[in-house]
Amino acid sequence: MIEAKDIRAGYGDGADILTGISLSADRREIVTILGPNGCGKSTLLKTIAGYVRPRAGSITFGGTDVTAVPIHEKVRHHKVGYVPQTDNVFGTLTVAENILLGARQLAKAEKEKRFAALMDQYPALAGKKNRKASALSGGERQILSLARALIAGPEILLLDEPSAGLSPLMMHEVFDAIGAIRDSEGMCILMVEQNAFEALGIADRAYVLSLGQVAMTAKASDLLEDPAMRKLYLGGEVHAE
Ligand SMILES: Nc1ncnc2c1ncn2[C@@H]1O[C@H](COP(=O)(O)OP(=O)(O)OP(=O)(O)O)[C@@H](O)[C@H]1O
Ligand SMILES: [Mg+2]
Repeated sequence: MIEAKDIRAGYGDGADILTGISLSADRREIVTILGPNGCGKSTLLKTIAGYVRPRAGSITFGGTDVTAVPIHEKVRHHKVGYVPQTDNVFGTLTVAENILLGARQLAKAEKEKRFAALMDQYPALAGKKNRKASALSGGERQILSLARALIAGPEILLLDEPSAGLSPLMMHEVFDAIGAIRDSEGMCILMVEQNAFEALGIADRAYVLSLGQVAMTAKASDLLEDPAMRKLYLGGEVHAE
């Protein structure tokens, strides 16, 4: 579904941040991107989303070349949902208004149908749909960002640290929601995460980045099970669970 080949990208006239990255992700698959702070994870996601234009390499979605297609067109014509790392919830708008921002291109009937389906799916939001988003907890805000991306009916979902700043309990809720989307919608999900162990728990495959390159790629279960990999790439001590 997503195929990125030999991507080089950076900002302005600065040096390349991504120095030749290739990656793929299929339908009904969660692929997680791991790696230390500043290694280029968000830049990679922004490049695939179309916020940053690659300087070299190619990106295709379902075989269609989208290398130079900007984000707004990817959302409109290529069924992409992107949830950035920085909070993009508008505190002064209600929960419902925030979600409907993602549905501007839909006809009224379709919009209402999908909104109702999301309310069924996320009771935490349904109970607060007319409240200002500023009254939500961190986890609820993450779910809200996700719901806003989902209302447009994406086939590809790009998530940048969906569990950032969440308590372990909320983190599990958010990850459960993401896993459920893959299974029920057959979506292709590319997810950057700091919480490597948790992310690998729901992911199918992983790419570990280092200094703008892919240092390794593996099945998530293999990465979780290999003690050397755990120590080397996930930063943690090896411990029984
Ligand atoms: N808008 C920008 N303009 C210039 N440089 C940037 C910009 N955004 C990121 N960078 C630089 O690109 C490099 C990679 O940043 P990026 O945000 O992709 O890392 P990351 O892996 O997502 O890090 P983190 O885990 O902290 O989110 C860093 O050196 C950063 O300073
Ligand atoms: Mg980042």
